[in-house]
Amino acid sequence: MLQILSLKKTVIVLISLVISCLFVFSKLLAFNPTPVPITQSCTFFKWFDPNTNDEEGRTFLKNCSSCHMTYYKEWINDKHSMSQNNPFFLSVYSGTTTENLKSNVYPGFRLDHPEQNGNCALCHNPEAALLDTSKDVDIRTVKNTNGISCDFCHKIESIDQNPLKKGISGINIVRAIKGKRFISNIQDLELADPTNWKGFKDIRFGPIKDPLEIKEISDVEELRYNSLYKTSLICAKCHDGLNGNVPIYSTFTEWANSPAARRGVQCQHCHMPPRNNANSIVDNPDIKSKLRPYHQIHSHSFLTEDPHELRKKYVDLKIETKKQNGILTVKIVVENNNFGHSFPTGSPMRNAILLLEVKNKDGKELSLIKGPKLPNYAGNLRQKPGKLFAKILEETSSEYAVLSGKSKEGIEFRKIAKDLGIPAQDWWNVFIASDRRIKPNSSDVSIYQFTVGASRDLPLQPVTITAKLFWRNTWPALAKIKHVELKEDLLIERHLTL
Ligand code: HEC
Ligand code: HEC
Ligand code: HEC
Ligand code: HEC
Ligand code: HEC
Repeated sequence: MLQILSLKKTVIVLISLVISCLFVFSKLLAFNPTPVPITQSCTFFKWFDPNTNDEEGRTFLKNCSSCHMTYYKEWINDKHSMSQNNPFFLSVYSGTTTENLKSNVYPGFRLDHPEQNGNCALCHNPEAALLDTSKDVDIRTVKNTNGISCDFCHKIESIDQNPLKKGISGINIVRAIKGKRFISNIQDLELADPTNWKGFKDIRFGPIKDPLEIKEISDVEELRYNSLYKTSLICAKCHDGLNGNVPIYSTFTEWANSPAARRGVQCQHCHMPPRNNANSIVDNPDIKSKLRPYHQIHSHSFLTEDPHELRKKYVDLKIETKKQNGILTVKIVVENNNFGHSFPTGSPMRNAILLLEVKNKDGKELSLIKGPKLPNYAGNLRQKPGKLFAKILEETSSEYAVLSGKSKEGIEFRKIAKDLGIPAQDWWNVFIASDRRIKPNSSDVSIYQFTVGASRDLPLQPVTITAKLFWRNTWPALAKIKHVELKEDLLIERHLTL
């Protein structure tokens, strides 16, 4: 059995070798038969596969992981690699649950707009969007893309200055180069005279000014320094997004107005720090590499190996109390010392909760007489003393729902969403009803009052105060409907006994 297997492998490798030799020969002899379709003609005009454990990748050094295994391992565990098939994303796009992509479960972009593909692919599946001139594709039917892949990010040549162009429509991709001539997209290639393909090289841009030549593939590959990779601009087009003129995603703008931007601190500083103990970009012992100082080699785990540690790194919580006339006053300060952007940021589903509990010596919760309570969006914690930090979208007019919603159920869902604890969806006709997220280098102050003494004259009872700050990936009610795990990350917990 084993022998048969290895025989099969050898045969596959041999056949592949023969094919590639033929290819090389045809190039050497400048023998140019009828043009082959671009996507199959040569490795360097289609997206490179980042994947590993693929015989072809190892043998022909076609995969990024063949030479950059450490980068690959970080990327494959990061959400950029999953963006095209992230079940939560697909369930919101299609209007299904995460495990049954055929069910009909609101909310869903495609349930509201059965005849439109939408612009989600611009950021969530840019490789697929590039294949289509209208840049609008049905994400559910796309096959064989690798999310936001190594090759995709490393073919970004420049960024369009027009702030309205989002995702891939504002990103200039260069696929190949011949001398000084750049070929940017598949359409250009198809128009180009096939006899001119000869001599074109696949290109990879990066932040290294003096990259080594990759001898083994130098006839088909070129590495090129591009200062863009050191700046937040390379992240801008996907981390800022509007619906009409309503900023749904605003991380880049938050950064652009932050103390970090004023000090020249870029996204990469926090999200791609130098990788500890690394001394080479290449980890394939058969490929010539160079010893490099650690600060030239950057992590590709965008939320670091430990997202919990990153999230709590810049937040703080302080409690101040006062007991007077039978009343306990609690003042809570939540600080966002992250000078890069608001806390929380990213998808408008991200939210953070400050929860306050005051108990007497019997463990009974004292009731709040004055101060903020958590809204419906906090799910099981609604009505408890505390605060929700989030950007809340609301629909401008339910008339729109009636006009644009195709189905009765869709309109019904819009009417009850708020009561269920789910704010308006990104693609509805929305406005920002409130944005209580904490701005970079700012803090939020909230004040609560509880009765602790039966009357002014009686001695005060002892109380324990517990304040918690946690981050949530989404709304509990939405998680339940979509069958998604509600990720709750407890960042700070403080106790005080008086
Ligand atoms: C055959 C091995 C090999 C393969 C396959 C390979 N690389 Fe590299 N790569 C190298 C070497 C060698 C360097 C230069 C290292 C140095 O200078 O220290 C390099 C450097 C780079 C750089 C830095 C360029 C710069 O100027 O900043 C980037 C970015 C890069 N590779 C991305 C990729 C991506 C993306 C893929 C897959 C599409 C890939 N590489 C596949 C060997 C390889
Ligand atoms: C082509 C669009 C695109 C570009 C360019 C891009 N991102 Fe993202 N990014 C996304 C998408 C889409 C997601 C969400 C993927 C998901 O959850 O399925 C994401 C997720 C993230 C996350 C959170 C989740 C995680 O585990 O990574 C961080 C942090 C992030 N990006 C930072 C960056 C930074 C920093 C840059 C620039 C160096 C950048 N991104 C460039 C589209 C992009
Ligand atoms: C000073 C450090 C710092 C800078 C600069 C910074 N970030 Fe962040 N970022 C963080 C921290 C810490 C978190 C985790 C806490 C949170 O979610 O707010 C985070 C969270 C995020 C998230 C949310 C991930 C999630 O889980 O939903 C995204 C997306 C993101 N950053 C993108 C960016 C982009 C894009 C830039 C540049 C425009 C940037 N960040 C600049 C520190 C930084
Ligand atoms: C979301 C975009 C993005 C993705 C995806 C991505 N990179 Fe990068 N890469 C960058 C940026 C930005 C830098 C520059 C970091 C810096 O210098 O601060 C970089 C730097 C590099 C470098 C140069 C050396 C270094 O560490 O700075 C190499 C090599 C590299 N990436 C390889 C890869 C490989 C291999 C993959 C896939 C496994 C990959 N990249 C995926 C954006 C990306
Ligand atoms: C301008 C770029 C952009 C566009 C357009 C876009 N997204 Fe996103 N989306 C992102 C980024 C970036 C993140 C990750 C932010 C974070 O991690 O907090 C994200 C995250 C999400 C998430 C959360 C995924 C998770 O695992 O938590 C969902 C769901 C989502 N998007 C749905 C959509 C839908 C549906 C559309 C189209 C109607 C869409 N997005 C259009 C950039 C975009």
